[in-house]
Amino acid sequence: MKFPKPLENSNSLLAKYLTKAVFEQLKDKKTTNNFTLKDVIKSGVKNLDSGIGAYAGDEETYTIFATLLDKIIEEYHDFKKEDLQQSNLNTDDLFAPNPDAEGNYIISTRIRVARNIKGIPLGTIISKKQRNEIEKQVSTILKSLKGELAGKYYALNNMRKEEKEALISNHFLFQSGDRFLEAAGLNRDWPNGRGIFHNNDKTFLLWINEEDHLRIISMQQGGDIKEVFVRLVKAIEKMQQKIDFAYHKHLGYITTCPTNLGTAMRASVHIKLPNLGKNKEIFQDIAKKYNVQIRGIDGEHSKSKGSIYDISNKRRLGISEVQCVQDMYRGVIALIKKEKELERN
Ligand code: ADP
Ligand code: ARG
Repeated sequence: MKFPKPLENSNSLLAKYLTKAVFEQLKDKKTTNNFTLKDVIKSGVKNLDSGIGAYAGDEETYTIFATLLDKIIEEYHDFKKEDLQQSNLNTDDLFAPNPDAEGNYIISTRIRVARNIKGIPLGTIISKKQRNEIEKQVSTILKSLKGELAGKYYALNNMRKEEKEALISNHFLFQSGDRFLEAAGLNRDWPNGRGIFHNNDKTFLLWINEEDHLRIISMQQGGDIKEVFVRLVKAIEKMQQKIDFAYHKHLGYITTCPTNLGTAMRASVHIKLPNLGKNKEIFQDIAKKYNVQIRGIDGEHSKSKGSIYDISNKRRLGISEVQCVQDMYRGVIALIKKEKELERN
């Protein structure tokens, strides 16, 4: 394998940290599951506009390719390798009264965590058989849920086109054909083994075999962040009772993408900010200061519509779940304050 020249034209963290020396050191290494450097970097090499550009094939990827991945992880999460990951899912520790009780800005709130099953390769190299086994195992567990969490599993395979499109446009279901995932090998055998579970109200959802084995999601209209967090914690606990998830004392929950390590949590609101939308520099400055990320409303790499943005915690590693939500909460408070100021001018 030769040094991937195209990376010279990329601003991704992969391009920044895959120096010739690092490349030489890692080019012949592979994990027990045969995940190679070429596999780690292929999405970033194919998609030169990547922000990150690297994916893992298994837990071992993070140790075998640590010379490269530690740098990416450190910069993305502002995390030091020696730090231990501390989980905190104690809902009493979260201070997040609705930042918009009158409902003028926040449309909806969503919090998700990613989880991968211990000992099974990640989606980048999982076999069709293993993927199907996960679908079977997880959907069977989901069937046993009671009360608020009770619902139904819908396999992507059997879903009608209109049904699928409605779930996507209402922000419940993942899109198909993401080119970053495609290049990383995550879309192999699509749509086999993938699907979505949701309760009646679509406030608790669980994706199977998208970017990670599981994505556990709690969401609802409005800005009651705490209610969303409480429901999510309940769902995580239920799943944890039945499944052993891959967890590392420094890296936290093991995920396919290094940006999701640690808590694997993304807490977001969809929020209407027309004035900040017209003042991008101020918007970006506040986002940076409060460690929040701005996305469009149809998921990652999408555009804003009707001045509505997706605001979420950027860091997920080196801080607890409560702190992730707290990051988002503080960012949202600051953004609403600025939006109101701009309204008056
Ligand atoms: P992730 O699943 O990693 O959080 P995405 O940005 O791709 O990443 O979002 C997945 C889906 O969740 C998209 O359809 C997006 O519109 C929806 N979504 C994210 N945050 C919210 C929110 N606060 N309210 C409603 N939908 C949301
Ligand atoms: N690989 C893409 C990039 O580097 C996405 C990274 C973060 N998002 C994700 N869904 N893992 O830009």
